Formats: sequence, structure tokens, C-alpha cells
Amino acid sequence: ASKQRLLVVANRLPVSAVRRDDDSWHLEISVGGLVSALLGVKEFETRWIGWAGVNVPDEIGQKTLIKALAEKRCIPVFLDEEIVHQYYNGYCNNILWPLFHYLGLPQEDRLATTRSFQSQFDAYKKANEMFAAVVNEHYVEGDVVWCHDYHLMFLPKCLKDSNRNMKVGWFLHTPFPSSEIHRTLPSRTQLLRSVLAADLVGLVNFSPGLDSPGSLNIARVLSLPVLTCRKSWLVKLMIENFLQPKELFFHTYDYARHFVSACTRILGLEGTPEGVEDQGKLTRVAAFPIGIDSDRFIRALELPQVQDHMKELKERFAGRKVMLGVDRLDMIKGLPQKILAFEKFLEENPQWRDKVVLLQIAVPTRTDVPEYQRLTSQVHEIVGRINGRFGTLTTVPIHHLDRSLDFHSLCALYAVTDVALVTSLRDGMNLVSYEFVACQASKKGVLILSEFAGAAQSLGAGAILVNPWNVTEVASSIGYALNMPADEREKRHHHNFVHVTSHTSQEWAATFVSELNDTIVEAQLRT
Ligand code: UDP
Ligand code: G6P
Repeated sequence: ASKQRLLVVANRLPVSAVRRDDDSWHLEISVGGLVSALLGVKEFETRWIGWAGVNVPDEIGQKTLIKALAEKRCIPVFLDEEIVHQYYNGYCNNILWPLFHYLGLPQEDRLATTRSFQSQFDAYKKANEMFAAVVNEHYVEGDVVWCHDYHLMFLPKCLKDSNRNMKVGWFLHTPFPSSEIHRTLPSRTQLLRSVLAADLVGLVNFSPGLDSPGSLNIARVLSLPVLTCRKSWLVKLMIENFLQPKELFFHTYDYARHFVSACTRILGLEGTPEGVEDQGKLTRVAAFPIGIDSDRFIRALELPQVQDHMKELKERFAGRKVMLGVDRLDMIKGLPQKILAFEKFLEENPQWRDKVVLLQIAVPTRTDVPEYQRLTSQVHEIVGRINGRFGTLTTVPIHHLDRSLDFHSLCALYAVTDVALVTSLRDGMNLVSYEFVACQASKKGVLILSEFAGAAQSLGAGAILVNPWNVTEVASSIGYALNMPADEREKRHHHNFVHVTSHTSQEWAATFVSELNDTIVEAQLRT
């Protein structure tokens, strides 16, 4: 049978284009969890539609870029500078992104944002319409159209308005905040209504499969009004038979539940165990825990060039434990908090000062947004101060790199690391933590993981969970991790490794698409 055709629509294409000259282009792999997860999806006949990260005002440029991207099965949406400024830098990354991650705007941006809100929202809608136009141009009957992330919340409605029969799913890679936060957004109603035009709405929460019947995880499921559809009755049965009700309600936050409650409170619609209902029309809402293509990482470690690189790194840092951070240089990643915790650890443990190094890969991102520029200077300042304080003529405690690494270098780095440090203040999932685990089959290093990353719900039992705001706690967790005996490391690693290798990106996408198809069949039966 021929493969299901899938149109993946996301603001960011898996490759970003850099212009060489008038008619030639260099394509680089884009950085970010969305791209990483989707690159692992192989079961479908996939076409990507999105922005190539570059302004192409001239016709020759557009033509040649279309051709270059076609080889990667990518179709560009051309956004001009003004739209990018208002839609991407403004509405998406200065308003929605901080809001969805529970971070307020900095004082100095608040009034300016309030003033420009309407024009930015208009640009957002316009950009979404431009994406819709490209989808419509390339859509073939029977295609599944899968829209992604906070950039494209307006898209499901645009698509359904032009073709009611199109199968449309929307997936959010970030947290969805409590309805109390979502309420503050001036465009709160329009965004929710538009997303509800989709047939299936997916969020990244972890919810357990039957392979992990730990009482903690089941408690999380029960506190949801939304269960992953098919298995919900079985989970209920297990709870009734094995667990006391008092064990059940304590989970802190949950994106799918927040989404449904925003729809009930803000739109006055009815939330059901399956999703949200509006005048007899049901939009299914469910959690689809995202994963990585773990085999790709495991296989990469076997390659001679990766092995060589690992050897070099080991020699370079011989006699020192390696701690690693890999993040886009984003305020949600808690970089200042991480570095300050490392400083505190060094301060309190002089015996470790020449025996540990923190390698921080900080990939520049959204560099036209002022808040990101401020963060960059702030991080540089702290790193400089700490290296000045604890460095010697020949060594520094922190190696901070403002750049991205290629896939093989990244794998080598993950594999030689003793302790990985993820301190996100909020994070949809955080795939870096998954990738680290996948590369640690022989070393069995320790993962220190923020309790505010989605991954804390799936890797919580194997990682050391921390509150990144509590610098004292993170500093003492660093000490605990560096001193952890081998048997405890092995046990923890095993737990996480099993999870990461059995919840892959392939499975995530397959479940989403089959759930979307089922939803549509059921809707047809109902009418
Ligand atoms: N990444 C990369 N090159 C780098 C650093 C990171 O390709 O130099 C990738 C990393 O492998 C991971 C993704 O960027 O797959 C980051 O995803 P994550 O979910 O951790 O965070 P996000 O950036 O989406 O917020
Ligand atoms: C996060 C978002 C993605 C985004 C990525 C990189 O993972 O969920 O939608 O692509 O960050 O950010 P950028 O702005 O460069 O696309």
C-alpha cells in the first residue's frame, strides 16, 4: 500500500537557508525540539511547509530557493521583513512564547507591547493566512495536514474555512498555561476558537502507557479530564483495583487539562473526557508524549569519527568530570540560574574546583528580540565573572559556546558527559534530556532535570529532579550527582533508557495521525 501523505506545517522548516549569491543557497539543519522530533518521523510520505528563516524579496531568489528546498521535500512560505518583525519577533516570541512559559514580559517591554499588540496580532493572522495559501496550493485530497506550534494557532480555522473536509490536526510543542494566564491575552478567544476548528488538538504532556503502571504516573492520568483515548478504560480499571484514591490528586500542572479548562472558562464550552464540545461538534484533545529517534543516536556512537571525537574529548578533559548543558540561549532554559548554581557548588566545594568542568552549548536564537539580546549579555557577564573567580592560568571552570554543534559532535559530547544539567524554568518536553540518556548506554551518567520540564514526568524516576529557582538545591544536587555510586547510576540510567528507547518520535507521530484519522471516522459516524 502507498504511504499516507502528510503535510507538516510549521513556522520553522527542518532546514534554514543562507544565501550564497544571487541564485545559490546553502541549507543548514535547523535547531530546536520541533525539528528534531519531526525529522525522526519516517512512516509517511511527508512534505514540509514553512519558513526558511530568510528574507527573499526577489523573484530569482524565490525561484531558486523553491528548487533547492524541493530536494528536501520542503516548500517555503515567503514572509517579508515587516511580517517577520511583527509576527515572529513580536507576537510569537515576545508575547506568546513568554506567556505560555509563565514568564512575564520585562518591565521595559510591557507598555511598548501593549501599544503594538493589535498590529502584531494582525500580522500574526496575516502570516497564518499566508501559510494557509501555500497549504491549499499543495493539498491533495486525502492528505493529513498537521499544523505545529504556537506560531500557527490561527491556521486550523483558515484551512477549515476553505475546505471543510480537510483532515486537520494541530500540535503544541510548548506548555499550555493555566487558564488564569491564558485569560490575560487580548486575543485569547480568537486563538482558542481557531485551534478548535482542528479535528484533533495534541499537547505534549506525558501520560503513561500501560508499560509504566507506577502509581505516580497513574495519579497524573486520573487528575486529567482528558485521557489518551483508547486506553483510558484500562487505566481506570487499574486504578480502581490497585490504588487508593488519596494517592491520586497532587500533580502540579498539565497542559491538556489547562487547554480544556481555558476552553470551558473562556469560551463557555463544555469539556468532556474526550475533548471540547461546541454545539454537538467535538474537537478531540489529547496528550501525545513526544520522543526522539533514539536509534539514530545509538548508531551514531558506533561511527569511527564519533569514536575519535569522543577519544579527543576524553583526553582533553582527563582528570576532570564533565558536566554538560545544551540549550538554545532562551530565557526559558534557566541559564543564569544554572550557572549561578554551578558557582555555588564551586564556592562550597573547593576540592572540586580543578576536577570538574561545565561545558555549556548555548545556541543563539531569536537574536532580533531585545529580551534575547539582554539575556545573552547577562549570561556572558556571569560566565566571565565565574571564570575570572575560579579559573587558573591554564584552565577555566566553564566553557561557554555561543554556537550550535553538528549532530556527530553533539553525540560525542553527550556520550563523554558525567552529569547533564537541564534547568528549564518551563519547557514543553526538553528533548536534550532524552538525547543525553540515549547516548549514555556505556557511561551511565547522571541527569539533573528541572521539575518544570515536560520530561520530568517521564524521566523523573531516573533523573535527579530539581527546582531551578532554588540555587542551593541545584548546587547540592551537583555534588550528589558527581559523587553518585555506580550501582545507583546504573539503576537510574536503566529506567530512563528504557523509556527513551520505547517512546520514540516515530511512535508519537504514528499515534497522532492514526488518532486523527479515527477522530474523523467517528465524527462521520455520529452525523
Ligand atoms: N540541537 C542541535 N544542535 C545544537 C544544539 C541543540 O541540533 O548545537 C538540538 C538538540 O539536539 C535538540 C534540540 O536542538 O534536539 C533542542 O530541543 P529541546 O526540546 O531540548 O528544546 P527546544 O530548543 O525545542 O526548546
Ligand atoms: C521551540 C519551539 C519550536 C521552534 C524552536 C526553535 O522548540 O517549540 O517551534 O522551532 O523552539 O526556535 P525558532 O524560533 O528558531 O524556530
